[in-house]
Amino acid sequence: MSQASEKSVIISGVGSYTPSKILTNDDLSKIVETSDEWIRTRTGIRERRIAGENETTSDMASAAASEAIKNAGLKPSDIELIIVGTVTPDMRFPNTACFIQRKLGIGKVPAFDVEAACSGFLYTVEIARSLMLTSGYKHALVIGAEKLSKITNWEDRTTCVLFGDGAGAVVLSLVDEPRVGILQSLMGADGNESDILCVPENEQSGTAAVEKIERALHKIHMQGNQVFKIAVRVMCQSAVDILEKANISAEDISLVIPHQANNRIIEALSQRLGIGMDRFKINLDRYGNTSAASIPIALDEAYRNGRIKSGDTILMVAFGGGLTWAAMVIKWQ
Ligand code: ACO
Repeated sequence: MSQASEKSVIISGVGSYTPSKILTNDDLSKIVETSDEWIRTRTGIRERRIAGENETTSDMASAAASEAIKNAGLKPSDIELIIVGTVTPDMRFPNTACFIQRKLGIGKVPAFDVEAACSGFLYTVEIARSLMLTSGYKHALVIGAEKLSKITNWEDRTTCVLFGDGAGAVVLSLVDEPRVGILQSLMGADGNESDILCVPENEQSGTAAVEKIERALHKIHMQGNQVFKIAVRVMCQSAVDILEKANISAEDISLVIPHQANNRIIEALSQRLGIGMDRFKINLDRYGNTSAASIPIALDEAYRNGRIKSGDTILMVAFGGGLTWAAMVIKWQ
């Protein structure tokens, strides 16, 4: 969307939270028939974090959000909008954003969730940005948070080695300055491919609860190599398209923060864009794929490690169930 005004939306604060429990590849090899070597060479993942039994998505999200609000130099009462990207809400309803609002003591502002799987964070940022530019919200809290461990089939080695839990958050602020912060954004989806990555439980189908559990219909199902091929194609195309839309060349990108699903997908992106892997932020080795939380956790880590400086141009690109995809170019203020 092109900006009609001289205002921009910047990321004014970042934060993240990951649970303390670490599940290594060796730990997993005691649960399913796999090995550290297979997981590392096929994905790049070494370990992932697993939330406590009673730790909810909104608990993790609130911890990340609290850091982001502090980092922005704001108070919870300054937040005027809350949006959460997640496929693992605490409850079917109320939405996760309402729980976070209550936990952080944020005022009675709009609060809702967006479900776009691994693209959920970028979708959510773009929705918040659009609302801020049209309705004038000054500070929005945008969070990607997931407790994927509760929808992971721990008997399926083809999926359980991939996912982890965590949350990342940003505060978005409206500023009276053109061409800073979020410069361009794109989102897309293809529902024709919805079956290759999903939690197939269908409450309308009348399938008996026992059958649902036996067939693990309430857990993640994925045709990994199908998803892999489409992920490479769609992530590369989204990145090329967003650079063109923003009229920015690959050389001008200081840092790429891709969805953290698989090193091999990221390497393909690096080759296609001609941007060396040294300009990619990668932390999937320690967290695995945390779906909507993956980009904001990586963003927070990159910021805290000094990899993001004023004036940097950052490319973010995501792909996930739906299928959905999204990309964004940001000029750090
Ligand atoms: N350990 C050991 N062997 C395994 C494991 C495992 N954990 N998993 C699968 N295998 C075996 C398979 O059974 C198969 O054996 P076979 O040849 O005897 O049949 C062999 O390894 C190869 O399996 P493939 O599925 O072809 O392996 P591939 O190289 O495609 O890697 C992977 C699998 C890592 C899942 C890859 O396809 C991938 O990363 N896909 C993309 C996933 C992704 O990006 N998801 C993003 C979105 S997630 C979201 O939206 C929530």
